[in-house]
Amino acid sequence: MRIIQITDQHVGKEEDQPHGVDVRHNFQRLCRRIAVLRPDHLVITGDLCLENGDSEVYRWIKEEVDQLDIPYEVLSGNHDNPCLLADVFGVTADMKGQELYYCRTWEGERFLFLDTTPGSLSSRQLDWVESHLRSGEGRCRVLFMHHPPVIAGVPHMDSKYPLQARYREALELIFAKAREPVRVFCGHYHHARTIEESYGTVFISPSSYVQINPYVEHFQPEHTTPGFRVIEVQGDQLRTSVHFMVD
Ligand SMILES: [Fe+2]
Repeated sequence: MRIIQITDQHVGKEEDQPHGVDVRHNFQRLCRRIAVLRPDHLVITGDLCLENGDSEVYRWIKEEVDQLDIPYEVLSGNHDNPCLLADVFGVTADMKGQELYYCRTWEGERFLFLDTTPGSLSSRQLDWVESHLRSGEGRCRVLFMHHPPVIAGVPHMDSKYPLQARYREALELIFAKAREPVRVFCGHYHHARTIEESYGTVFISPSSYVQINPYVEHFQPEHTTPGFRVIEVQGDQLRTSVHFMVD
């Protein structure tokens, strides 16, 4: 099973070109690459919008992704509005209160999709994650979420925009009690990084918009080549690689 993860599109109004990047054009290029790779699933892990949740942006992205004819899942990031997003993408059945989190079963394995929009998770959602990771009904080792559940050594993001500490700690306790090592795929940091933890591995994926210099405290673009991640799950083996759209 091949999964492609894309994240942090930050699509704005048609005329917007933040940091000189034509994000809509980048997204269309990315879709053309995905069409060639033909994954079994596409996962969009949040921050579809440039600043704030915008139905017009969600509709534009949905039209582009629908053309791929590939099953896909969408998460909400801190620059999204989960209610608007669920409404446009037709997944309101997956809303629990104001949060959009859900489980999908692919080839007998459960995959979890979390909602960390405000930089936090409700206790109801944390309980839900725990019950899935401890359940013996089919395998559950892969989670997708927008924020990394850890401090990642990227000073600009760690100091200003991390998942709030109490929720990192809550997730760490939950992950530690999982039936097997967890693999968390996230975005938000605009940088590709792999972090080994005692409970498993956190994979941070690059943005479709701009990559951030991971070694300075202030915001500094490293480059604006869009990236994406491929995840291949085959039995016990999980392979993953990061790619950039270098023409
Ligand atoms: Fe974000």
